[in-house]
Amino acid sequence: ADSLRALAAPTGLRFGTAVVPSDFDNPAYAKVVGEQFSVLTPGNEMKWQLVEPTRGTYDWSGGDRVVTFAQAHDQLVRGHTLMWHNQLPDWLTTGVSDGSISNDQLRALLHKHITDEVTHFRGKIWQWDVANEFFANSWDPHPLADGINGDDFWVSHLGEGILTDAFRWAHEADPHALLFYNDFNIGGEDGTNAKADAVYAWIKRMRAEGVPIDGVGSQGHVDTQYGYPRQLTDDLRRYASTGAKVAITEADVRTFVNNATEQVPTDHLAEFAQPYEFSNMLKACLAVPECLSFTAWGFTDAESWIPDVFPGEGYALLYDVHLNPKPVYTDLQDDLRLA
Ligand code: G3I
Repeated sequence: ADSLRALAAPTGLRFGTAVVPSDFDNPAYAKVVGEQFSVLTPGNEMKWQLVEPTRGTYDWSGGDRVVTFAQAHDQLVRGHTLMWHNQLPDWLTTGVSDGSISNDQLRALLHKHITDEVTHFRGKIWQWDVANEFFANSWDPHPLADGINGDDFWVSHLGEGILTDAFRWAHEADPHALLFYNDFNIGGEDGTNAKADAVYAWIKRMRAEGVPIDGVGSQGHVDTQYGYPRQLTDDLRRYASTGAKVAITEADVRTFVNNATEQVPTDHLAEFAQPYEFSNMLKACLAVPECLSFTAWGFTDAESWIPDVFPGEGYALLYDVHLNPKPVYTDLQDDLRLA
């Protein structure tokens, strides 16, 4: 009754986590996933690199395993992600760079990828992250007029119209799935809110033009040392004012730690800052009725992407490396009880 999913249910919010499907073999891991969460996202297994490692040969096993687990535990699934510059199959990126895949062929391959993947999972996905991380950050040198990153792999080869095409192709393949645009630093994390302004204007225009975009996912990757999403509630409200749903899709709050194995914060104050920032993101979502789900990017620090990508950092999630709930877990329970 005190699980995150049970406390979230009366508020209308689904509480989620990213998962590693092969870890379902670990009973302690599977127990937490089943008991605590009401929506699951495969962290990697629905990305193009993993579903089509060899051209023409699909491997849906990881994604299928998440869907099967979710159905057995009365959970929904967020599909992640159909079009991203990262984690593309080697055969695709190599073919593009050596010229053996032309831009026309690239476009046809993307159309087939989106159609085949969405069709495979049709009826089983609640929200699809159709397009991931297309907007320029302040440090990207070639933003287009509307703020899209001109250097993005897809945009630089196919033009920004590929975004509307991708949403239309996904909608054709599964008219009932909610189709999301997903990005980071769109809650004011960089202190300027410029990226959020651009995403808001774009979503508004896309929806006015009838492009089937149903939602905006704000990832929520936060660091206690800098850049917290101070505008998050206002930004979520603004996206929702266009008629879109919103979601927090990849929440984690990292800080500096003693080592990657135990992940004990080196600064005692981080033990307060980490739950505080996590809680602020949940409260923003709870304050906006259109916020459908709040997903943490994994639940145990043992599984987090942070130590690999930000050496010296960690402590980003809800459970410690031994699968014990951390103070942040209790704070989020309290937030849900008070909502
Ligand atoms: O599966 C291989 C394994 O065979 C190999 O031995 C090992 C050696 O490095 O790599 C494994 O692949 C890793 C994969 O995660 C699965 O663990 C990749 O190296 C690693 O780069 C990959 O990282 C993922 C990252 O996206 C890639 O950019 C993270 O797990 C995943 O959590 C992360 O998620 C992204 C979201 O999709 C989009 N938003 C940002 C977020 C964090 O980067």
